[in-house]
Amino acid sequence: MISEAISPKIAPGPQEFPDLWQNPLQTLVDAAREYGDVVCLDPHERRIYLLTHPDHVKHVLQDNYRNYRRDADSFKLLAGNGLIVSEGDFWLRQRRLIQPAFHRQQIAALTATMTEVTAAMLERWQVAAEQGEPLDVLAEMMKLTLTIIVKTMFGGDVTEEVEAAAHALDVGQAYLYQQGWDYAGELGSSGEVEFRQAMDTLDRMVYRLIDQRRRSGEARPDLLSMLLQARDEETGEGMSEQQLRDEIVTIFGAGRDTTALGLAWTWYLLDQHPEVERRLRAEVSGALKGRSPTFADLPHLAYTRQVFEEALRLYPPGWMTARLSLGEDEIGGYFIPANAEIFLSPYVTQRRPDLWEQPDRFDPERFAPERAAVRPRFAYFPFGGGPRVCIGNTFALVEAQLVLAMVTQAYQLRLFPGCQVEPEALITLRPKNLWMTVTRGA
Ligand code: HEM
Repeated sequence: MISEAISPKIAPGPQEFPDLWQNPLQTLVDAAREYGDVVCLDPHERRIYLLTHPDHVKHVLQDNYRNYRRDADSFKLLAGNGLIVSEGDFWLRQRRLIQPAFHRQQIAALTATMTEVTAAMLERWQVAAEQGEPLDVLAEMMKLTLTIIVKTMFGGDVTEEVEAAAHALDVGQAYLYQQGWDYAGELGSSGEVEFRQAMDTLDRMVYRLIDQRRRSGEARPDLLSMLLQARDEETGEGMSEQQLRDEIVTIFGAGRDTTALGLAWTWYLLDQHPEVERRLRAEVSGALKGRSPTFADLPHLAYTRQVFEEALRLYPPGWMTARLSLGEDEIGGYFIPANAEIFLSPYVTQRRPDLWEQPDRFDPERFAPERAAVRPRFAYFPFGGGPRVCIGNTFALVEAQLVLAMVTQAYQLRLFPGCQVEPEALITLRPKNLWMTVTRGA
C-alpha cells in the first residue's frame, strides 16, 4: 500500500477548481500545458486528477485497470446491467459472450446491410440536393448510424424498431442529463412519465423480437443470432432475456452517437481541407470505379480510413473517460488517493505538442501505418484501451470507411454559408450548427 506519508509528492495544479463547464476542452488543454502530466484539479480535497501522458493512461486503462472502476452508474436507467455499466466477473463473462459477435469476420457479414442503409440515405438526399436545401448533418448521421445498428442487430424491415429506438434514446438521454448532467441546459428536457413510456415501448419491441427469433429457431447473419447463440464456456448457459435486452439497448446507445459524431466531424473537416477531400475522392474513385464498396474493398480504401482516424484524433466523440480509483496508487511519482476521480481525455492527449507535430492541424498522413507504428499506443485512444476497450471499434471503423466512400462517390458536402461550427463538450463532443448543402458528384 502506498501512503501520502511515504510518497508525499502531491501533483501540481490550479489554486482553485477550474470552471470546467464554461469551456472544458480548452481548460483541460491549458491545465495540462501549465502543470504537466499529472494535474490535481481540486487543491482542497485533492480528489480529482487529470492524466494526459500516454504511459499514465496505459497504467489506468490497462496495466493497473483493476484499481480503476468505470463510473457509469447513471447509464443504468437506460442500459440496465449492460456492458457499459457492469463490473467484475459478471462484466467479464458478458464481454466473453459478446466479443465473438464483433470479430472482424463477423462484421464482414454485416457490410451489405451497412451499404444498403447508406444507399437509401443517399437517395433521400436527392431532394435536398436538387433544391439546394441545407441538411442538419449531425441529425442525418445519427439517423444513419442508428438504422445501421438496429438493422445489423435484427435484420429485416426495421422502420418501426428504428423509430422506437431513436425515441427511447433521445428521451432517455434528455432524462439522464436532466437528472444531473444538464449543465448546459440545452438538451431539452423529458419527464419521468415520458421516459418510462419510451422505455416500455422499446422494451416490448426488443422482447418481442427476441421471442420471435427464439421460436423460429432461425439462424440469420445478424447480431441478434450471435447473441442468442452465445454460450458460457464453463456452464454452457446463454444470456437471460433481461440481459439480452440490456446488451441490445447498450449496443444501440453506444453505437449511435459516437459513430455519427465521428462522421459529422469528418464532413466538417473535409469542407475545411479541400486538398484532403481531393485525395479522398481520388482514392475512392480509383478503388471503386463507381460501384458500391464491399468488405473486400476496404484494404484499398486506406486513406479513407486515415481520414476518419484523424477526425477522431481532433474531435474524439468520447472526449473524456473518467475512472474512480479503488485503492491508493502512485503515478508518474505522484500520490493518487483512493476514491479519486481520474480524468483521461483523448481530446487533451491527442493534442499534446510533444506527441503530435502541429497538433491542431488536420493531417490524415499521421495515420500512415509506418508513422502510427512508432507512436506510443496510448498517444491515441478514441476507443479507450485495455480490457474495456470499445467492443464496437472494428464495427465503427468498417462502417465509417463504407459510409465515407459512398457519400464521397455521390455528393460533395459544403458548409452552409454563415454557419459557425463550434465544438460542444457534453457527454460527447458535438459539432454545433453543422448545416451543409449537398451537391451531386464533384
Ligand atoms: C467512432 C465510434 C465509437 C467511439 C469513438 C467509441 C468509443 C468508446 C470508448 C472510448 C469506450 C470506452 C469507454 C471507457 O473506457 O470508459 C467504448 C466502450 C464501448 N463501446 Fe464504443 N465507440 C464507438 C462505437 C461503438 C459501436 C459502433 C458500438 C457497438 C456496435 C460500441 C459499443 C461499445 C460498448 C458495448 C462499450 C463498452 C465495452 C466494455 O466496457 O466492455 N461502440 N466506446
